[in-house]
Amino acid sequence: MSWEHQSVLLHEVVAALTPAPEKFYLDCTVGLGGHSEAILQYPDTHVVALDQDGATLEQARLRLAPYGDRILFQQVNFADFDAKGQKFDGILADLGVSSPQLDQGERGFSWRFEAPLDMRMDQEGQELTAADLINTYSSEALANIFYEYGDERNSRRIARTIVARRPLTTTTQLAELVARCQRGYQKIHPATRVFQALRIAVNREFEALEQLLQKAPDWLHEGGVLAIISFHSSEDRRVKQQFREDIRLEVLTRKPIVPSEEERKANPRARSAKLRCAQRVPVAPL
Ligand SMILES: C[S@@+](CC[C@H](N)C(=O)[O-])C[C@H]1O[C@@H](n2cnc3c(N)ncnc32)[C@H](O)[C@@H]1O
Repeated sequence: MSWEHQSVLLHEVVAALTPAPEKFYLDCTVGLGGHSEAILQYPDTHVVALDQDGATLEQARLRLAPYGDRILFQQVNFADFDAKGQKFDGILADLGVSSPQLDQGERGFSWRFEAPLDMRMDQEGQELTAADLINTYSSEALANIFYEYGDERNSRRIARTIVARRPLTTTTQLAELVARCQRGYQKIHPATRVFQALRIAVNREFEALEQLLQKAPDWLHEGGVLAIISFHSSEDRRVKQQFREDIRLEVLTRKPIVPSEEERKANPRARSAKLRCAQRVPVAPL
């Protein structure tokens, strides 16, 4: 398998973060390091790079080794990051999973490969897997996950069928069962939405985003920029609302920045990406 991942909205992120000498950046989701590298190509910039996935972080370390101590790595969920008083000039979160995570069949993120139902981004620190969720949650809880995190219209039927047929242990068992529950023409694989929903639930992605939105403004210098790329309408809604309501932030993007036609064609994964940016402003003491 290849460790390649095409970074989404790369030029737009660099334009928003304006890298310059002696500026410090926090990349909350370093992944394969594409965005961090684009920043580090500007002389004397510095990056703290986080990822909760140990295998991914190792690849980022290899790729970004030429930048020496201008980049520091930490394996942590960005929701648990402790800035220890450090302030940054820019913070980036490029949410979701990377292409190599999806392509590592054994991780269980994709219906394309036969594998145990795992889906944990952090395989060392986290115990709950997709199999635990599928085999122990109530039909109602599963239906809510499929509907809220996957916009799956057949959520109830799928959940009922899962509960009747479990235990399910592999991706292919789940994908085939979901496919049998679907009716009519499907533009995408019939299990895509259920797999996405499970991944979001297993990794508590929306909870982590909400914590990041609460904490990140305090990690910024005045004038520093928080940039978030989301891939799901519920994520984008959370970012938009929190940016608007947070007195520590001034919204820089009234409308989200989306990939150009050219980028969409070259990288199908970019199609649903939305970038929103906000700037840290001074807050008057009470
Ligand atoms: C879309 S990829 C990032 C790609 C990266 N910007 C690049 O250019 O290569 C998202 C990465 O964020 C990581 N991730 C997702 N949620 C996270 C969280 N809550 N804390 C830390 N890392 C997270 C994933 O493991 C994945 O490697």
